Amino acid sequence: MEETIAIMLAAGKGTRMKSNKSKLVHKIYGKELVKRAVEITKKAGIDEVIAVVGYLKEQVQDVLGDSVKYAVQEEMLGTGHAVMQATKYLKGKKGKVLVLNGDVPILRPETIERLINKSTENKECATLLTAIYDNPTGYGRILRDEGGNVKEIVEEKDASEEEKKIQEINAGVYCFDIQELLNALKELTPNNAQGEYYLTDIIKIMNDKGLRTGAITVKDNTEILGVNDRMQLETVTKILQKRINLEYMKNGVTIEDIENTYIYDDVQIGIDTVIHPNTTIKSDVVIGNDCEIGPNSYIREGTRLADNVKIGSFVEIKKSVIGRGTKVPHLSYMGDCEIGENTNIGCGTITCNYDGVNKHKTKIGDNCFVGSNVNFVAPVTIQNNVTIAAGSTITEDVNKNSLAIARQRQINKENYRK
Ligand code: UD1
Ligand code: MG
Repeated sequence: MEETIAIMLAAGKGTRMKSNKSKLVHKIYGKELVKRAVEITKKAGIDEVIAVVGYLKEQVQDVLGDSVKYAVQEEMLGTGHAVMQATKYLKGKKGKVLVLNGDVPILRPETIERLINKSTENKECATLLTAIYDNPTGYGRILRDEGGNVKEIVEEKDASEEEKKIQEINAGVYCFDIQELLNALKELTPNNAQGEYYLTDIIKIMNDKGLRTGAITVKDNTEILGVNDRMQLETVTKILQKRINLEYMKNGVTIEDIENTYIYDDVQIGIDTVIHPNTTIKSDVVIGNDCEIGPNSYIREGTRLADNVKIGSFVEIKKSVIGRGTKVPHLSYMGDCEIGENTNIGCGTITCNYDGVNKHKTKIGDNCFVGSNVNFVAPVTIQNNVTIAAGSTITEDVNKNSLAIARQRQINKENYRK
């Protein structure tokens, strides 16, 4: 049966990161670079991914678990050598194999699909992803013949002055015919400036055999950016941030400040919701229509906000379900809560949800009014239509339609100051 599998190169050292950790486990928006790369590959419809690991492989394996298969590269002898380590998974298989790098975290799945489709439609044994760069320094350059066909890839260190002027670069994402790749890998030699087995030499090897090769050019150059140091980590994070925020804006969400709004993966936000500046929304959050969030607020994992909810400034919400029309307008921490509809939570109210060992729930009903600076010591349940007096520390459940006051009475000592 024809199938497409992927080999992800993830053995490299990442020296420029200056880290005790593998470069690949550094995170963008809470998710490791290599995990992003695997997720992108799977979104493009490839279920079987083989990660070639080496340097600090345990860290990479901890992150990827059994979502991929592993091949180990003991010595870094080049990208071609890395792919050779994975050939045991390819033997006897028909179809295509995608090869890509584990440190390229914002490639679009559609680009991978486009690459595979081009390869299939044109019956190419190797199809490359290329980009046109104003400054191509450092990348492999694409050499084409008079007919415009890809001839070979020349690495920077092996390129002549003329070749270095070529602006079309190799992005490092390839789609190969499995059997022809296996054949061509046997012919790789390390006869080049770096003494490495270059995967890029496969193109010339295939062309010399008369096999068909080709390329597509990426539409958005930022997609193929790799992360080699912390500056690039920041660059890629910013690009991803903008891409995510624009997507919400196109779908009817108002984001007042695109630069200062941080929305992680796996978030849903309804139309006409307004996000004020300096707001972070983490993964696994659902926000309804016509809500208002921020400024300076933090919506954490597991939160579900119904329509017309208002979360104001300096509010942190964690793993809480909040009903329609409810407001948490200022300076609150609501963790592990269930709050009904049309309830107002006063300024400075917090849930004491953690006893040092376990987390406990606070349940607050519909149409409640919680005064300012209230502590809910969980577990605690407040029924519908309850008023909680400001400054109360609530440790006991409150029945519907009640007023709860839990604070010391005030004593005034007159003529205390002479
Ligand atoms: C490679 C390409 C170059 C391309 C560039 C795109 C080759 C020879 N050159 O160059 O044409 O423009 O990517 O970014 O392929 N790796 C291993 N084992 C090794 C060597 C590398 O797993 O022995 C991994 C690295 O961790 C990295 C990837 O392969 O994820 C690419 O290796 P790198 O050394 O960055 O290749 P470049 O010199 O950038
Ligand atoms: Mg590189």
